[in-house]
Formats: sequence, structure tokens, C-alpha cells
Amino acid sequence: MTEQSPALDNLLTESRTFPPSDEFAGQANAKADLYATADADREQFWAGQAERLSWDTKWSQVLDWTNAPFAKWFVGGKLNVAYNCVDRHVESGHGDQVAIHWVGEPGDTRDITYAQLKDEVSKAANALSSLGVVAGDVVAIQLQMVPEAIFAMLACARIGALHSVVFGGFSPTALRARVDDASAKIVITSDGQYRRGKAAPMKANVDEALQGAETVQKVIVVRRTGSDLEGETPWTEGRDLWWHELVDGQSTEHKPEAFDSEHPLFILYTSGTTGKPKGILHTSGGYLTQTAYTHNVVFDHKPGEDVYWCTADIGWITGHSYIVYGPLANRVTQVVYEGTPNTPHEGRHWEIIQKYKVSIYYTAPTLIRTFMKWGDDIPAKYDLSSLRVLGSVGEPINPEAWIWYRDTIGASKTPVVDTWWQTETGAIMISPLPGVTAAKPGSAQRALPGISAKVVDDTGTEVPHGGGGYLVLDKPWPSMLRGVWGDDERFRETYWSRFSEQGYYFAGDGAKYDEDGDIWLLGRVDDVMNVSGHRISTTEVESALVSHPTVAEAAVVGATDPTTGQGIVAFVILRGNAAESIKAGGGSAGEAAVQELRNHVAKEIGPIAKPRQIMVVAELPKTRSGKIMRRLLRDVAENRQIGDVTTLADSSVMDLISSGLKSGK
Ligand code: PRX
Repeated sequence: MTEQSPALDNLLTESRTFPPSDEFAGQANAKADLYATADADREQFWAGQAERLSWDTKWSQVLDWTNAPFAKWFVGGKLNVAYNCVDRHVESGHGDQVAIHWVGEPGDTRDITYAQLKDEVSKAANALSSLGVVAGDVVAIQLQMVPEAIFAMLACARIGALHSVVFGGFSPTALRARVDDASAKIVITSDGQYRRGKAAPMKANVDEALQGAETVQKVIVVRRTGSDLEGETPWTEGRDLWWHELVDGQSTEHKPEAFDSEHPLFILYTSGTTGKPKGILHTSGGYLTQTAYTHNVVFDHKPGEDVYWCTADIGWITGHSYIVYGPLANRVTQVVYEGTPNTPHEGRHWEIIQKYKVSIYYTAPTLIRTFMKWGDDIPAKYDLSSLRVLGSVGEPINPEAWIWYRDTIGASKTPVVDTWWQTETGAIMISPLPGVTAAKPGSAQRALPGISAKVVDDTGTEVPHGGGGYLVLDKPWPSMLRGVWGDDERFRETYWSRFSEQGYYFAGDGAKYDEDGDIWLLGRVDDVMNVSGHRISTTEVESALVSHPTVAEAAVVGATDPTTGQGIVAFVILRGNAAESIKAGGGSAGEAAVQELRNHVAKEIGPIAKPRQIMVVAELPKTRSGKIMRRLLRDVAENRQIGDVTTLADSSVMDLISSGLKSGK
């Protein structure tokens, strides 16, 4: 497996524990006996969790695993996911409860009650139906964090259409690849988005993406920036429709149809080890059961009392599972914030927490480290006493950041839950329970009740306490992915072939047990990087680089970064003439070429994939079979002593790279 970086080694020397207070433990949703209850009869346990939902037809079988790795949960059951997230709360007398406190970046706000949410989702569902969208169709959504994004997702769920949400920061090329892969019929976007105080165009990028896209019949455009945007919104007559013109006049009456528990709910693309992103498929009953259950037990959520805020973007799985589905199924009152954390000032999040009395806050380590950098005096200016649970997701959290989070944001008393999961798992899998677990900073600790995870060696044998290896999930779980869109082979190959004998799901993460048997996640063991909690494959960035005319060859590694977890470092060999002209032009020509390549990657994939650093080299270290030895490049990128070079075809290559970099060539 991948060698661990020094930062990860520090993780493993942390030994402090933080048990919950008696007061918190006493009122917690989940008590210690939940583990034993789940272990006694897993299927019975999950059947109990599914009772959180309202089913039109009850299932006849909890789990059908006969066609593994294709699972069926709550077989024969029928439900409507949107009804469960919206209507039933209105029917039970909570129509006036605020579902969403929406906060726009420029300072505009909107409070949406469950009754209003029901009307908006119903209108949007009627609108989609009026365009001929039917169950099984795919609707692509590229929207920033505006309420319409949530209305659109729930409207799709309501009529049985699949949504494929594409992160707003993805390039036209990335959007197009996703639209084509899923044959999306409709695209929903906005005219523009506010980002760091400025209005930036969105529709123009979508238009660029959709040139010649044959499957797309209509583009629905939410007006967000309007006249703030310079120039007119580009428009294709006959294809493009304003959201307000299409949706506002629709009826608020819409009867939700019950769909099979295994009816597809959405596709979400994520990076894998090859260049082409995978469309991860999730279905209805099991997904909603596990997102609702985990949201209840991990965050200790109390409907009608708590104010919850998950800072993720709906473009990622965290936004799907912990802004839209789990929380709304649990009748949450939540904050949804449109913008960046430092607009217009670095206390924006704390100001929002103070204003809405947020009690549960869920964010990513990269942001926590950024807050640390900005300084303790910023949160100190605000009243954060409403907070009672803090959560972390997306990458390993270093103990220092964990302690800072608890002390500075959580007044040295709130439980911190470090939640491990993936796009593929659909919901939280490994996490402390805030009223039960004596938390250890830096460790996600233990699989949740009903979930089973193991750390195994190369042969699939569980390692002893104190040992390290690969994280596997050894039993199926309700919110597990049901496949890779259109590619069953890739699904089997990526997740199920590594430990096929045992039938384990291979997560792609390295992990370790401590002496108590608690799990510590150690980062990816494949060629996937984790930059600010976003998954980006090395191959994806390499393909983007070699698509530039000056690049002959490229190798990309993720190097430890104090803020973003990992930073993208690229090594490129330039084509002969490009290399010559840089030599002739001196240092500034080299800098310009590197800058151009960084921008090229941002244009091809999106700004999140922009390499932190690009090093121009004459050779790349390869084995005799031609495989690039990234381990050695990572040593260079992290300024470490270069490791064992004996398997290189030409061991002098590393000297060449190191000396070239030192002399700035
Ligand atoms: O490497 C793990 C890391 O993020 C990967 C999943 O990324 P994605 O599908 O984008 O989902 C992110 C949000 C759920 C994992 O394979 N990861 C996620 N959470 C943690 C983590 N690594 C360590 N600790 C975590 N809490």
C-alpha cells in the first residue's frame, strides 16, 4: 500500500479521549445498546430503521443479496422519496416549521416552511412533467446553492426521474461528459452565480457544454444574478426556459406516485482511478433509510428543536445525503448558505450560526484548518453557544484541527463526530456516536450499529489490533451503490474484484486499528487524490495536461498540504520545441508556460483540479515495465529524502529530476 506521509504518522500518536458528558449521553438519540441490538439481527435492525419512513407498500424481504454485488433492499416495498421528505411533515401538522433558512451570499435571505416546500416541489414536478419528463429519465442539474436546486432534486424524486447533479465549479467539458454518459434529457442551471462578492456567468458555460448535445431537449434557467451579470444571458429559443416562467404558474397540487424501493433515485459522478468519472447509482428505499437513520443517530438530531447546518455543496454526495435526503426525511430545520466562507468577511459562518442559533454544524477538515489560519479572534466575536454537535467529513482530520474545532467552536464541550463514508456508500458508515463514544481526535473509530467494516491485509485476512492495511466493508448496507451507470463490469472490477474470494467491498482507503480496535483512516491507497475533501484522480489531471499541445508526458501526485489535505503536484515533460523556447526565454518564459498549463487543467476539469505546482522535468521515473513510480515523485513533491530507486529502469533519473529542480531548470 501507499507509504504514509509524516502528517498521517502524527495522527497515530494521538491518545487523548473525550467521553460525552452525562447530560449529553442521557438525552442522546442513540444509546450504547444499539450496537448489540443491531448485531443480534441485522436485517431485523434495518427493518426497524426503515420504519422511520412512510411506505405505500411494505416490503416482503429486507435484503436480497443473491445476485451480489447487486443488492436489493426492502424488496417489494414502494414509497415516494419526496413525499417522505416533504408532504408527510405537512400532513403531521408541521407545515409551518421552517425547513430551510436560506442565506444568499449578497445578504438576501429566504425562509421556506415545509408547506411552502411542498408547493415549490409540486410545482416543479408539474413543470417537469409538462416537458414530458417521465420516471426513469435523467435530469442534469448544475446549480449553485439556491433553493431551486433542492426543489429540482425533490421534484425529480417525486416523479421518479433521476437527477445527476454536476458541481457548479465543473468545466463545460466535465458537464458535457456527464450529460452524454447519462443521456440527460433536461439540464437545469442558472443565469449566473455569486462567488466572492461578484456575479459570474453560469448559463454561458452550460451553453458551451451543450453545443451539439443531442439528448438535451430543454434547458431550464433559474434567474439568480439577473442584471448584476454583465451582458445578456445567452439564449437558445425553443430550448431554453426561465424557471420562473415555467414553474411559477404551475399548480401546487401534485400526487406523488409510489415507486419501487429499488427505483433509481440519482446518479452522481465521482473520480476513479481512470480518467473517466464513474456515475454512481443510488436507489430509493435503502438509501433514504440509511441517510435518515445516520442523520438521526450521528448528529443526535431532534426535529423541531435543532437547527442544523451542513456546509457542503449539493454537487457532492454530502449535499445529497446530508442536506437534501436524510435531514428532510427527519423534518430538519436547516441553514443553506449560497456563498464562500469569507464573503464579505471571515466571520460569515459564525455570524450565521449566531443569527439562526445553529445547534448542529457539519463541515470538512480543510475548512476547519482554514478557520484556524484566519485566527481564533474571529469566532470569538460571535455567540456560538447554540452549538451542541460538530461533525467532520471528507478526509482524515488531524488531531490538532479536531481539538481546535472542539475547543474554539464547541466551547471545549461539544462532541465532535468524524464521519467516514464515500459517494459509493451513500451514507455515513464509520463514526462515533456522540452520546456513547469516548471520542479520539483523528479517528472515525467504529462502524455504526448495523454496519460492518474491517481492516484487512493483502490476502483479505483481518489484521490484529495495532495493525494496518486496507479498509473493507464486509456486509451489504442499505444505502450502498447499486452500480456504475452503464458499466456493470467496472462496478465489479473497481469495488469487488480485489477481495472477491471473501466478497468484501474494497473502499480504496488505507486504515489501521489501534490497540483498542478503533479504526484510523489513512487516506487513499489508489491513484485518487483528496484535495479539500474533493476526489480527483491523478489520471484525470494527467489526461488534461497531455491534451495541451506543449506537453509530451505528465505524471501527477497528491502531496500533503497543510490546508487542503493534499495538493496536486504535476511533473511534465514538454515537447521538444516548447522546451527549447522556454530555455531560450529564461525563467519568466518557464513561469508563463506553467501558468498556462495550470489554467488549462482548470478549463478542462474545473478550478478545483488546478495543480498547486507544476514541475518541468526532462525524464520521469519508470519501472522496467514502463510504470511511473509515483512514490518517488511524491518524495520530491513533499521534499523528502528519495526512497528506494532500485526498481527503476534508469536509477539516475531521480538525480536528474532533483538536480534539475534545485538549479531551477
Ligand atoms: O478517502 C476517503 C475520504 O474521502 C473519500 C470519499 O470521497 P467522496 O466519495 O468524495 O465522499 C466524500 C464525502 C463523504 C474516502 O474514500 N474520506 C471521507 N471521509 C473521511 C475520509 N477520510 C478520512 N476520514 C473521514 N472522515
